[in-house]
Amino acid sequence: MTAAPPHATAAGRLDAAGMVRTARERVVDRVREAEVVAAALSAGRNIVLEGPPGTGKTTLLRALADGTGVPLVLVEGNAELTPTRLIGHHDASRVLTEDYRPENFVPGPLTRAMTEGALLYVEEFNRVPEETMNVLLGVLSEREMHVPRFGRVAARPTFRLVAAMNPFDAVGTARITPALYDRSCRIAMGYQDEDAERAVVSTATGGPGGLVARAVRAVRITRDHAELRIGASVRGAIDTVLIAGELAAVRGLDGLAQPLDEAVGEDAALAALTGKVTLGDAVTRPVEQVVVDIWRRAGEELGKA
Ligand SMILES: Nc1ncnc2c1ncn2[C@@H]1O[C@H](COP(=O)(O)OP(=O)(O)OP(=O)(O)O)[C@@H](O)[C@H]1O
Ligand SMILES: [Mg+2]
Repeated sequence: MTAAPPHATAAGRLDAAGMVRTARERVVDRVREAEVVAAALSAGRNIVLEGPPGTGKTTLLRALADGTGVPLVLVEGNAELTPTRLIGHHDASRVLTEDYRPENFVPGPLTRAMTEGALLYVEEFNRVPEETMNVLLGVLSEREMHVPRFGRVAARPTFRLVAAMNPFDAVGTARITPALYDRSCRIAMGYQDEDAERAVVSTATGGPGGLVARAVRAVRITRDHAELRIGASVRGAIDTVLIAGELAAVRGLDGLAQPLDEAVGEDAALAALTGKVTLGDAVTRPVEQVVVDIWRRAGEELGKA
């Protein structure tokens, strides 16, 4: 048994103030969300972080975790995340020579998180197979599990589950999520306001202000555009700014010149955005045309910033 992690008391409380402090240093805005998630984690609750892609769920949770003093174990949720992958397995070649022994068990992320008292962060939780969700729900209820031929695994007091979910993701396992919601607290992460998104893109790219503003405006237009069913997250703006800077250099132009060369901006926006948006069902014109229109409109709205 190793010593309890710093900040974590024997009762399993986590340092909420420490978490909020690191989140304030590393995350743009999101103060309310940081405070509520920190408070819920500190109170021993499990969390569902719900929001569209690119709204900063992972960024916020990483920052909060760094302030707790307990480890973060991150798992990508997808159809291949079987109970065995999550829990662990016995090393097959060692089993042949040594038979099943606790020493040749290779712990998976759930077992590690429970024994280390870590935060287990499962991204895209609604893509996880139902049998794997059932394992997690069992652990949330009992704070322990039985692993065949390994034994009982008990969760240290600081163990928590944080599940991230995209509310627009159709894959979901509708039958199981009510049980998860009942055992956790839900914090919604919507899109941030325009100023915050500019700050996010500026920090991520160091790009010139006019270009950052136009890229942010463009992705915001995609989110309630009549021809698009799904719009782009702030990642689309980050990619546009990064590509535009490099593309200007490739073409022998000054990437920081204002206003930006129109062809460079359009090509960057096409590369960054056409794959990130989804056309509405009835739309017949190509996505490239829609994105170019949006890029031009963003420029007009900002007075060709
Ligand atoms: N509030 C924020 N402060 C700082 N960076 C942010 C913020 N929001 C988003 N970002 C940046 O935007 C990008 C996407 O954020 P992140 O990966 O945290 O989103 P997510 O909600 O986890 O997305 P997904 O649902 O696709 O996993 C990252 O590059 C991140 O640095
Ligand atoms: Mg994420």
